Amino acid sequence: MYRYACLNNISEVGLKRFSALYEKTEDLSKADGVLVRSANMHETEIPYGLLAVARAGAGVNNIPLDKMAEHGVVVFNTPGANANGVKELVIAGMLLAARDIREGIDWTRENADNPAALKTVEKIKKNFAGTEIEGKKLGIIGIGAIGVKVANAAVYLGMDVYGYDPFVSVDAAWHLSRKTTLVRDINEIYDNCDYITIHVPLMESTKNYIGREQIRRMKKGVILLNMARDLLVDEEAVLEAIDSGKIRRYVSDFPNATVAGHPGCITTPHLGASTEESEDNCAKMAVDELTEYLETGNIRNSVNYPACDVGICTSAGRITILHHNIANMITQLASVLGSAGVNIASMTNKSRGGYAYSVFDIDSPATDEIVERIAAVDDVLRVRVIK
Ligand code: MLT
Repeated sequence: MYRYACLNNISEVGLKRFSALYEKTEDLSKADGVLVRSANMHETEIPYGLLAVARAGAGVNNIPLDKMAEHGVVVFNTPGANANGVKELVIAGMLLAARDIREGIDWTRENADNPAALKTVEKIKKNFAGTEIEGKKLGIIGIGAIGVKVANAAVYLGMDVYGYDPFVSVDAAWHLSRKTTLVRDINEIYDNCDYITIHVPLMESTKNYIGREQIRRMKKGVILLNMARDLLVDEEAVLEAIDSGKIRRYVSDFPNATVAGHPGCITTPHLGASTEESEDNCAKMAVDELTEYLETGNIRNSVNYPACDVGICTSAGRITILHHNIANMITQLASVLGSAGVNIASMTNKSRGGYAYSVFDIDSPATDEIVERIAAVDDVLRVRVIK
């Protein structure tokens, strides 16, 4: 029996995927796995028994990835599962920024009981005029699951689309419309685009990714969209640029005290992935990743350990080992098995940055003594026997 805890509301559609092998617990210290959305885990004490955390969403800035890795906890996210929801909000954001739709709606609401005013519609509508997005240049920073969808939709709407991503994956490039121009120099986006949207993860290295210097390069009247994370953008610099007329609108899904209510800012309360479909998709993917890891040891979409797919165990037993990525580990681990007279049926080792994962399928069951001896090897962070 496995136990899981939910630190936020997780869609029932996802939770229904847990088999009879699982039960929910409110007690984190008893959980093998955790499902989380926005709960901040940076100060959470990591219980010894916790094996995995799955975030139902893309961003993982609410989870201490290295600390989790050091405790032998594999962290997953759900890339792409909510990409369509975010894409649709980006398109809506561009349209709201291009035209005074919100002000027009407010005007009709304010005059709902004023038939005389309503008769002036044809006269006053010029107050809410705007521009169209067709034919405008859109720059997308970050061509991941969301960036690709935004690019393709914008191409379809007749925009001239430019993408920047030094780490673009084969999969993303494959799905990207051929009408999108991938630029090597990000300044081509800052210098030329009428709309700029950012879709990169928030990390120490990406804080203030768009700051004064980048804004200085932008065209006058640029529209900047941020559906990723507020700290990616120096918002004080954005407000100055709005006030000076350099930025026409800043559309953000993060209504903090700096930008909420400021003229020229259009803010929404982190609605990007708040659709039924996105919530269901994220929950389904998160539960599948968690259960696959707990039951087979396979790692799919982890953000702190390497991917590893060794199928299901067909030998007498499987031992999985999370450890630091340093020399001589495999020799030490294999020698524990060898000296216990255990034959290795198959062996896999994968690494990612400072961490690595080794999986041994063995021809005789793993004894407690073997597990203890492996756990005692320096730099081993977690040993598990998959039944
Ligand atoms: C994400 O990181 O996937 C989105 O911002 C939505 C969310 O945080 O739930």
